[in-house]
Amino acid sequence: MRILRDISSLGAWRRDMVFDARRVGFVPTMGNLHTGHMGLIETARHHADAVIVSVFVNPLQFEDRADLARYPRTEQADIEALERAGVDAVFLPTETTLYPHGQKGMVRVDAGPLGERMEGAARPGHFTGVATVVAKLFNLVGPDVAVFGEKDAQQVAVIRRLVSDLDFAVELVIEPTHREPDGLAISSRNRFLSDEQRRQAPAVHRALKRAAESLAGGHSVPATLAGARHWLSQQGFDVDYLVYCDDERFEEQSQLVPHGRLLVAARLGAVRLIDNLAVHTPQALGPTAERVGAAVS
Ligand code: PAJ
Repeated sequence: MRILRDISSLGAWRRDMVFDARRVGFVPTMGNLHTGHMGLIETARHHADAVIVSVFVNPLQFEDRADLARYPRTEQADIEALERAGVDAVFLPTETTLYPHGQKGMVRVDAGPLGERMEGAARPGHFTGVATVVAKLFNLVGPDVAVFGEKDAQQVAVIRRLVSDLDFAVELVIEPTHREPDGLAISSRNRFLSDEQRRQAPAVHRALKRAAESLAGGHSVPATLAGARHWLSQQGFDVDYLVYCDDERFEEQSQLVPHGRLLVAARLGAVRLIDNLAVHTPQALGPTAERVGAAVS
């Protein structure tokens, strides 16, 4: 596996790939790799001849300095895991490599209104930081295909708009959320949970599943959401939001839409967990529909 730390060696590797006519698959990450990341890598391999992973804890997307400081950095273990997974190259830039003029005053990619809702409202500037670094990485890596996780569904929506609005010639592949056997979405943040919190944590996913079932059973969106929020707070969570949105603009919906998604962010002490669940309805349903044929995935 090639370990690339600067832009010129990345460029040379990329030119080799062009020369060999190899289709390049790219998985951007912030490291501290877990089985969810490994799933993305496996998927990238199915769509490409060579796979490159980037590991960079992007300061631009952390509005909270303390959160950035405590983000787990495990470079050696990450390199070993990538090697074992048969990855072709890893890009490990430093902050000065990617932001040589510093972050202040730099030109950024504005994530637009989509980046201001839900996670964007809770974390102002977060999605502009994500869109900016992903645009830079796309320019540097020049991938044919890039893989992102459904775990961060709003991030996926932002990246889709980034690619379409700024005409990046990259195909996007979305990997379903990898979960622990009890349903908890795998995340680098799970390590901050105490034993007791870890036992409580699967309630986040359970709340979404119950809400999806409630919608499928014909209950109204507002009643379902109120019930799910109440239940989750009874389980010991501070609920930041639990909403039902359309999958494209991430605007809250009070009635079922063909491509809807339940989204949740909830805190257990200092640990903030996010999760989401697609709720597919075969056709848009009027308010008078008695039975709702909602399929839950
Ligand atoms: P990071 O949190 O490291 O995640 C890297 C990728 O792995 C993202 O596409 C994320 O959605 C995906 N992922 C994380 N946990 C997952 C899980 N349990 N199942 C499936 N996919 C999962 O997301 C970022 O980094 C950054 O914002 C980044 C895109 C790298 C830009 O800095």
